Amino acid sequence: MSDATARDRAKEEAGRHAAGYVTDGMKVGLGTGSTVHWTIVELGERALDIICTATSVQTHELATSLGLRVISPDEIGSLDIAIDGADEVDPAFNLTKGGGAAHTREKIIASMTPRFIVVVDETKIVDALGPFGTPLEVLDFAPGVVTNAVLALGATSVTTRERRSDNGNLIMDAQFGSIADPVALATALATLPGIVEHGIFPGSMVERVVVAGLAGVHELVNDRS
Ligand code: A5P
Repeated sequence: MSDATARDRAKEEAGRHAAGYVTDGMKVGLGTGSTVHWTIVELGERALDIICTATSVQTHELATSLGLRVISPDEIGSLDIAIDGADEVDPAFNLTKGGGAAHTREKIIASMTPRFIVVVDETKIVDALGPFGTPLEVLDFAPGVVTNAVLALGATSVTTRERRSDNGNLIMDAQFGSIADPVALATALATLPGIVEHGIFPGSMVERVVVAGLAGVHELVNDRS
């Protein structure tokens, strides 16, 4: 089996496994990406009596095509659970997200529940956040000013993607090297005018991480007590 095939299988295993946390009557936040894709497929196959809200147009379209009922975050109000992928997970459950440009909506949805469950293949587990880069959703008003401010915070480079977010904003990727204190960096980025949202999710948001790899599925449970 090629590495790519093994990774695809791991994503499917993690994604489907996490769907087991969803039961009838729940209000469910649906993340974005190739791993949570399988959670959504599993939920569609199980035909549970649930109401969902989606973190992207792509997820909205997938979920509705599978027969799931999807309404807006404002309509749903609060969530019993949200499930989403990640680009990096560190030992303190801090996450990098935004590889798919959806991190602003993803952070809003994750903030609507105490039960935020992350699904990843084992390549996403890192000793420290940083190698992936830090995605930033940026207002298209003064991207140069924002870039200079991010460089002043210690980034060595900031690049702009061709693709915009579903909100119509720019998506930039900042390289900070290995991030020693992700929560401090998250706080600093949050103070910069023009950054709509950054892709660092503090570990305090995360209930558990479902990890799949060659040896099967295991869970990392965050003791937030
Ligand atoms: C979307 O913007 C991201 O936060 C995704 O959740 C993240 O990139 C994980 O995607 P995959 O499951 O496709 O790796």
